[in-house]
Amino acid sequence: MSEYRTGLGWDVHRLAPHRPLILGGVAIPSELGLEGHSDADVLAHAITDAILGAAALGDIGMHFPDTDPRWQGAGSLLFLAHARDLARARGYRIVNVDSTVILERPKLTGFRDAIRRQLAATLELDADRISVKFKTAEKVGPVGEGRSAEAQAIVTLRLD
Ligand code: C5P
Ligand code: MG
Repeated sequence: MSEYRTGLGWDVHRLAPHRPLILGGVAIPSELGLEGHSDADVLAHAITDAILGAAALGDIGMHFPDTDPRWQGAGSLLFLAHARDLARARGYRIVNVDSTVILERPKLTGFRDAIRRQLAATLELDADRISVKFKTAEKVGPVGEGRSAEAQAIVTLRLD
């Protein structure tokens, strides 16, 4: 019998001019980008926390403190790969990832497959195990007013 474990991740970053918009490791053309200590890849951060959560290994800030100069401008796929390795070292395999990015604009649907492929390569999974969805916030609240972006993720791990 395999044991299954589920983890939840959530993140938010402010939108600002002169910053790149990187989601799941993919650079998206946009007037505004995400602010943060690292590359502020809100989707990669949410998925990283979901993996850490499923394995009960704390959270992203515990493994990559934003006070540590090593992570200044770091590519967040590095965090994701580290969470993958930590989970793997404990015998877990990632079954699937589901996620949602909540961003008012730009439209992201044309980037879905590129993001899925990038996440799949980083997690060393087939892309059909990775789901990425997009929502606006219907112009309501900070996300709806275009001041921030959020991401949610859920991950299932299997312990054989
Ligand atoms: O938020 P809303 O329900 O209006 O989103 C409708 C669809 O628009 C989503 O299912 C998604 O396919 C797409 N979308 C997108 N990029 C966004 C937000 C939504 O492609 N930034
Ligand atoms: Mg973050």
